[in-house]
Amino acid sequence: MTETTAEGRAYEISDGTWDPELVQVERGTPSGELLRRYWHPIARSTEAGTSPLNVRVLGEDLVLYRDRSGTPGLLHPRCCHRGTTLYFGRVEDNGIRCPYHGWLFAADGQCLDQPCEPDRGRNKASHRQPWYPVVDYNGLVFAYLGPADKQPVFPRFDIFEDMTEDEEIVIVDHFAFGGPTNAPCNWFQTHENAMDPHHVFILHNTISGPQFDPKLEIWPRIDWQAHSWGVTATQDRDLPDGTILHRITEVRSPTMRVIPTPTLSVLGKTNNLSWALPIDDTNTRVYAMLRKRKDEEAQGLPVYGNGKSWFDLTEAEHQVYPGDYETQVGQGPITLHSEERLVSSDRGVSMVRRLFKDQVRVVAAGGNPVGVGFSDEDAFVSLIAGNYIVGPNTDPATIPLWDA
Ligand code: FES
Ligand SMILES: [Fe+2]
Repeated sequence: MTETTAEGRAYEISDGTWDPELVQVERGTPSGELLRRYWHPIARSTEAGTSPLNVRVLGEDLVLYRDRSGTPGLLHPRCCHRGTTLYFGRVEDNGIRCPYHGWLFAADGQCLDQPCEPDRGRNKASHRQPWYPVVDYNGLVFAYLGPADKQPVFPRFDIFEDMTEDEEIVIVDHFAFGGPTNAPCNWFQTHENAMDPHHVFILHNTISGPQFDPKLEIWPRIDWQAHSWGVTATQDRDLPDGTILHRITEVRSPTMRVIPTPTLSVLGKTNNLSWALPIDDTNTRVYAMLRKRKDEEAQGLPVYGNGKSWFDLTEAEHQVYPGDYETQVGQGPITLHSEERLVSSDRGVSMVRRLFKDQVRVVAAGGNPVGVGFSDEDAFVSLIAGNYIVGPNTDPATIPLWDA
């Protein structure tokens, strides 16, 4: 029998609570309103087509389509006439037509036709289907779900500029969860994971066997830096040849994370950027945008210890080779912040949470959050994450966050 003591019995545990300022995504909640001040990727551009698609974004159910002239539209599904869903609508040259009585709506919600009305709708201009603006960018459709007078300029990222003929941009959606695209847990669990470099050594090396480049098995010197726009982690490893691998990971407000390739296939500034999409409070998708040479393979599904992909593992093998999906979903649909024991190695997680909560309060007080701009000059974003090799002859000025 186990030694008898009154200490620490599970019978005593409390139900626990989560921090609403971190996890709520619905309209009208303080954190949901912060999220609504940015553009979010909601689908691959190829998914917006002439067959309407139900999408769920920040807890809102919407219909995405692309009209026959190529314009994508994102509308509230419930037709403003008598409420049937536009999911069954017919996509035409300039919009989507409701299947019930045929009202035709443009991507900006304008009613263009009412076939059952005299003159096909003398008052059609006074009816508008609720809509949101969308933008195609490098293979993803982005939407802005916030107040119209606060709509920020659409950002451009330096790593996707000045493409050459032999390069292309692809969308990858298995980076965050090691296989699945979506995970049944709150988005913040995967967001803060990006500032948790210690789990790379434990989960992805010690527990599940080396999953990345062998150089990442060297224990690094880890530090974190707070910026106005987000948080970075630096991980410095002394390599056998005397150089130092200076690896920078980056989290930007509100949902972006920039992770240099764990296979070290790209040295210098990274080639990819990911966004966590809060589908609702308990479901999350992550999209990565990746720049590569056309003749290069995109980083495929990761292979677990016994050479299988996540989808081919048995339940017992998931237990032997757990990864990001198992650990983040394993925290529960919404993790219980009140029951955590944050320690020194969680400093990056604490920094990400503090930055996010500060911004929630900025928006609640009527201000504009970090990382939004309203003019073309504000649109350009320069990322810094990467795998930087620092040798004896390296000019320190060329290496971000290097002060050795
Ligand atoms: S319900 Fe859509 S046109 Fe009548
Ligand atoms: Fe991970």
